[in-house]
Amino acid sequence: MARGLWITFEGGDGAGKTTQAALLEEWLRAQGRTVVRTREPGGTEVGTLVRDIVLHHRGDVAPRAEALLYAADRAHHVATLVRPALERGEIVIQDRYLDSSVAYQGAGRVLDATEIRDLSLWAAEGALPDVTVLLDLDPAAARARLDADDKPFDRLEAEKADFHARVRAAFLDLASAEPDRFLVLDASLPAADLAAAVRARVSAALARSPRRGVGGTP
Ligand code: TYD
Repeated sequence: MARGLWITFEGGDGAGKTTQAALLEEWLRAQGRTVVRTREPGGTEVGTLVRDIVLHHRGDVAPRAEALLYAADRAHHVATLVRPALERGEIVIQDRYLDSSVAYQGAGRVLDATEIRDLSLWAAEGALPDVTVLLDLDPAAARARLDADDKPFDRLEAEKADFHARVRAAFLDLASAEPDRFLVLDASLPAADLAAAVRARVSAALARSPRRGVGGTP
């Protein structure tokens, strides 16, 4: 969409997105690049309020309402934080974006995947990342990691195994439909190996336009 570089991380709960986003941020900052690290839901003040509803509301949220809440968070996030940063020429590293909606609200909640994607594209005025890293992990292995974490489960994490299996399959389908945007990695590999693969992909993207993210000027 603009002069910066936009990288999103996707995958099931417990796949290690946050660790990889942090390692990439560190590596880019060490090169003197300006990085904005953010997430959905909850990358803005409005988003924090939405995040509280979608993740912690006690009781049901109707599937279409849930889809609209994630889309509302996304609309505000892209308009007020992501797009301005990219226009300044910065690098945006983001935990989750519209692929999560297609996987979780589409396949997980069984809404129409195309409608969910179109809803998000409308919300974000068509904005798509330059690179999307999918950390693919068997849901049973992911569950074991989350159990070891000792944090209480949020509404989505608490869903049953077949929900998470559908989410995983949906992410893999999305990746095969857009092979140029996606980098699919086996998230059971050591974190250092994953980080190296991410760096290689991001380096290639930066090589095409090396001034991206340097000092906030394109
Ligand atoms: P995440 O921030 O990865 O959770 P945590 O900080 O606890 O690791 O994601 C929150 C949850 O929201 C996750 O279970 C996936 C879900 N989600 C959707 O269902 N749809 C969406 O569009 C997004 C962005 C997230």
